Amino acid sequence: MDDLKLDEIEWLIRAAEARDDELREAINGIGAVRVARLLTEEIVFRAAPANVHRPFDVALEITGGSPPEPISYVFQVHPDGRTEVSEGTSATAVHVIGYDCADLVRDVFGCARTPKPARRTIRSRFAESHDPSADRPLLESVLYSQRATAAVLSGIDAPAPDLGELSTRYLSDKWGGLHWFTPHYERHFGAIRHERLRILEIGIGGYEGRSTGGGSLLMWRRYFPRALIFGIDVFDKSGLDQPRIKTLRGDQNDAEWLAEINREYGPFDIIIDDGSHVNQHVLNSFSALFRHLRTGGTYVIEDMWTSYCPGYGGDDSDTAGPSTSIGLLKSLVDLLHHEEHRNAAGAAEDGTASMLHGIHLYRNLAFIDKGFNIDGGIPPFIPRQGLT
Ligand SMILES: C[S@@+](CC[C@H](N)C(=O)[O-])C[C@H]1O[C@@H](n2cnc3c(N)ncnc32)[C@H](O)[C@@H]1O
Repeated sequence: MDDLKLDEIEWLIRAAEARDDELREAINGIGAVRVARLLTEEIVFRAAPANVHRPFDVALEITGGSPPEPISYVFQVHPDGRTEVSEGTSATAVHVIGYDCADLVRDVFGCARTPKPARRTIRSRFAESHDPSADRPLLESVLYSQRATAAVLSGIDAPAPDLGELSTRYLSDKWGGLHWFTPHYERHFGAIRHERLRILEIGIGGYEGRSTGGGSLLMWRRYFPRALIFGIDVFDKSGLDQPRIKTLRGDQNDAEWLAEINREYGPFDIIIDDGSHVNQHVLNSFSALFRHLRTGGTYVIEDMWTSYCPGYGGDDSDTAGPSTSIGLLKSLVDLLHHEEHRNAAGAAEDGTASMLHGIHLYRNLAFIDKGFNIDGGIPPFIPRQGLT
């Protein structure tokens, strides 16, 4: 996708839940042809693999744009699980899916979670599409094309598979073998996955390669259908850029650069630190970014096991010290209770304590929620002396 900017994609996603006139304004402002290109790219990205023995074509006609002529696309659904798309028509497509452009935007980028009345038509061209010299009878080819059509429709409005399956599909290490993080992510983010979000993940994966890694960025893109996903890494990962995914090159230990990223692309609703896992980096990134997280957002830290590894600046004595990620989390437990804590004034100074809403700790995974944490604390008339 060459030419659609992040703010245009965000405009369209916002308009998908707006009134008809606002949605039309967005489509006309961006241009129906470019909108159609973005939508078909998103459908291809989301489409489930189809169990077919040869490639099948599925046609899509988008109307209601300006110019008024339908914009035609052909999806080619392959036996190896891929789906490709190109502009044009197909003589062999059994099914032609018809959509008004605005309805397609609503179905792809709206936040409907429940089944709704169909906004599309599906026209079947049984006889016209059949090649009499083909080795398979008409009925069989119709049945297989249903599978291809179902795959394309799954890219429009089927719910995403669970995060464990997506982690496996896109080769992230967040589930299976090394870690079993995805059920925790589901628990914390399942309820907001249809919201408009900006997500920042530190650490893209795939070593030096420009186009290697990115498993978790793809996983988030599929799981959060209305989110913009930003990934940062010390290596250039720009080969992984695609609609709704933007990679940025830099060091998570550079507080000034992180503040710049926030100014340009933030504020973020979710920040995930899956970067170097060097303890000082984790502490510095938290100190630089938590303040910029949107109120109501969540900061996630992975792989706190390095707190116990001197090779990562950790501490291999019995209890992890204050300069480790586990040490950071222990100090946050005190900050969470800043109004009851005798050092409350000092602790709240940088604003972390008063915006620390909750901490959820799992093995090697922490979710830190940002929200107001100021309510006066336990009042003075409550005795400070327990019964003996
Ligand atoms: C564990 S991998 C990320 C895996 C990915 N999040 C996933 O789940 O598929 C860690 C990444 O952090 C990057 N990294 C290492 N040090 C960094 C630093 N100081 N700043 C930013 N990224 C760093 C590495 O290049 C590597 O790509």
